Amino acid sequence: MGADVVADAAGGRLPPWAEATPARREHLARVAELLDRWAAALGLSDAERARWRAAAWLHDALRDADPAALRPLVPPECRGWPALLLHGPAAAARLRGDGCADEALLRAVAYHTIGHPELDELGGALYLADFLEPGRTFEPLWRAALRARMPAARSAVLQEVVGARIRHLVGSGRALRPETLGFWNSLARSPVDP
Ligand SMILES: [Fe+2]
Ligand SMILES: [Fe+2]
Repeated sequence: MGADVVADAAGGRLPPWAEATPARREHLARVAELLDRWAAALGLSDAERARWRAAAWLHDALRDADPAALRPLVPPECRGWPALLLHGPAAAARLRGDGCADEALLRAVAYHTIGHPELDELGGALYLADFLEPGRTFEPLWRAALRARMPAARSAVLQEVVGARIRHLVGSGRALRPETLGFWNSLARSPVDP
């Protein structure tokens, strides 16, 4: 079952529990296209490319569900999250319920919104593809320039995007989640480095 739901998602078929509008599915298709292209450029195997596409299709599978219905599904460490962030851990919980035991993929889906210090290559790529996909209309030239540097300069691009998002949050007086700070610290140079 776990393999099936991931294999189906790699082909663009969402699980029966998904709640995603047609516009959302277009976003998912664009994210999947980017991740597939990046995985191919990195020389990953066909199986790994399929896994990256599956993470893309699944990350917002519950983005259009009622957050109040999602809150009871998420693990205790996510239960107090703001409503709009619950779709990540809720989708991961559903996938786990379907038998998916790919912890790195589950973490990538759960933390695609805020980041996490233990995100791996796939997790970082999903975070970036979600933010850089060409359907996003805010600052399109900056996004296009960052996309053009992917995947070769993925570490630098990830640091630039996470830094920009943190500056935006701080600039608007909003709180940072500890997972986001941990994500930044996992990417940043140490304070004593030149
Ligand atoms: Fe999302
Ligand atoms: Fe998304």
